[in-house]
Order: sequence, then structure tokens, then C-alpha cells
Amino acid sequence: MVERIHLAKPRGFCAGVVMAIQAVEKAARAEDKPVTVYHSIVHNHTVVERLERGHDVHFVESLDDITALPDGSETVVFSAHGISPAVRERARALGLATIDATCPLVTKVHTEAKKYAREGYTILLIGDSARHQEVIGTRGEAPEHTIIVGVLGKTGEGLHDPHTVEVPDPGRVVVLTQTTLSVDDTRRTVDILKARFPRLVVPPSEDLCYATKNRQDAVKAIAPQVDAFLVLTSTHSSNGMRLLELARDLCGRAERLETDADLAHLDLTGVRSLGITSAASTPDDLVQNVVAHFRRLNPKLEVIEEGEWENIEFREPKKILAGEALPR
Ligand code: F3S
Repeated sequence: MVERIHLAKPRGFCAGVVMAIQAVEKAARAEDKPVTVYHSIVHNHTVVERLERGHDVHFVESLDDITALPDGSETVVFSAHGISPAVRERARALGLATIDATCPLVTKVHTEAKKYAREGYTILLIGDSARHQEVIGTRGEAPEHTIIVGVLGKTGEGLHDPHTVEVPDPGRVVVLTQTTLSVDDTRRTVDILKARFPRLVVPPSEDLCYATKNRQDAVKAIAPQVDAFLVLTSTHSSNGMRLLELARDLCGRAERLETDADLAHLDLTGVRSLGITSAASTPDDLVQNVVAHFRRLNPKLEVIEEGEWENIEFREPKKILAGEALPR
């Protein structure tokens, strides 16, 4: 029986996710017509379902799908993961008003990509998938200059191996990263690239975001004290799946839950102390439901929650009307 739960802190929503969800909710309240969101606003199924059910919000994977919506839409919100300039241009061509809920920490990487491309650098962009929305958006700022490198040599469609990747000029190469990768694997991947390209430029402030780092640190702090870990995340959340891998590496036993409904399939035989964390896009009530489940099984359950919450907020994005100048 589970006797003790260690709740990771921080866990759950980051400032970028809060800003993005609030942007959609506010737009849905303000608009006469349904609001469209380009891509999942954040990578969590519950968040998307709640927005679809509770508000007049559609989700599309192509802006051209908006014209096929039965009740039309005049405003599109761009998700927290960011978009390529081509998507922004397409929205303009379609005459849509836009609300850009890209996380400012992703925008920072876009700015770096544009700067280094202008200066003639090849950008090695470390990512966990060439199809991740954030990687697509960042690459889209400078597609001719960008090569996507798999973290720690992870290969697959569109990913290059850091051990073998070639660049046109080894004297003019910079490394940027997706914001939500494993801190340790990213450091090792950068080391491989540094060994291969001694003049590699590494921007002074890292691209991995504070929320990614803090959630991984919280798992590292708890792992030695628990028999197993539960990680609440959707499978397409990069930062959440990295938490699951980390917990599994450190604990040997870690399971992913979408919601507390998945507890029914779980075998926790022999587990007396349990760590719980959640992705930066997982609502905390899902975590509380899991804790409540274990409390029902054991009314004497001890719940320990150490660590600090973050105190970061991002400004709400402005609506850009169709035809208005694009932000620079
Ligand atoms: Fe932004 Fe990091 Fe959250 S990039 S959306 S603060 S996970």
C-alpha cells in the first residue's frame, strides 16, 4: 500500500501555458464568432477538450481548414509552441486577425535563429523530433540555414546525428535548442558538437526554459526517496515525456498517466513511497485527483510537498487585426 507521496514542486503549468490558455479563453469570450487555434494550444488532451467543450473554440492543423468550418472564424490564436513566418503570412493572406500566444522563451530562440542566419551561420538546432511544432516553427525562421540535430544522437525522420552531421563552414556554426529537452542529454549533445566543431558558438543564455529545468530538478530531488514515480502528461508533451524518462532512469519504475482514470491499469505492488509530477501543460486538478485516489485507499497517507513554486508571469498577447502591420 502507498504510505507516502512526494509531490514534485514545481510541477504543472508554466507561465507560457497559463498565458496561452488565458489568451484563448479571453478571445473566446470577446468574439462573436468561434475562435480558431492553430495546433493544440498546449500539448495536453484535457486542456484542449475543456476549451472545446467550455468555449466556442476550434483547433486546426492547417489555416486553410478554417474556411471549411461551418460557422466561420475570423480570429486565429497561435499556440504556445510558436509558428514559422510562413504561417503568419498565410493568416494575413486569409484576412484573419491573429493572437500570437507563442511563449516568449520560444520567441527568444526564434530571434537568435534570425540573427545567426543573417550573419551567415549554419544553425544546428537540437530537437527531439523534426515534427515537433516548436522545432518546425524555429526552423521556419531560417530553413536554408538550419540543420536539425537529434538530442544525444536520437535519429529518425529529419534528425541528424551530432556525431556525423556536416556543415558547409565549420568556422561559422551555432547551436540552438528546443526549449523543453532533457537538461543532461542536451548538455552532452552540445559537448559532442563542441568536440566536432571547436569554433561552435553557444549563445550566452541557454535555450532550455526555466520550467523545463525546474521540473527536472524537482524529480531529481525526490527520486532517491521513492519506490516509483507517476508522471501526468500527454504523450506529445516534450517536457512531460522527458520527465517520465528521467524518473524512469533515476527510479527504475515510472509510469505515465493521462488522468486518474489510468490508475485502474497500474500495478503498484510493493510501492510504499510514490513520487508524482506533471508536465508544464498538465492541469493540477488532475494531480489532485490522483492524490485523492491514494488517500481513499489509505486515509493515513502522508503527502510531502517540498520545494518552491515559480513566480513568473508573461504578458498577454495583443490581437493583431487583419491588415495591421506584423510585429517585428
Ligand atoms: Fe514556455 Fe517553457 Fe512553458 S518554453 S511554454 S515556459 S515549458
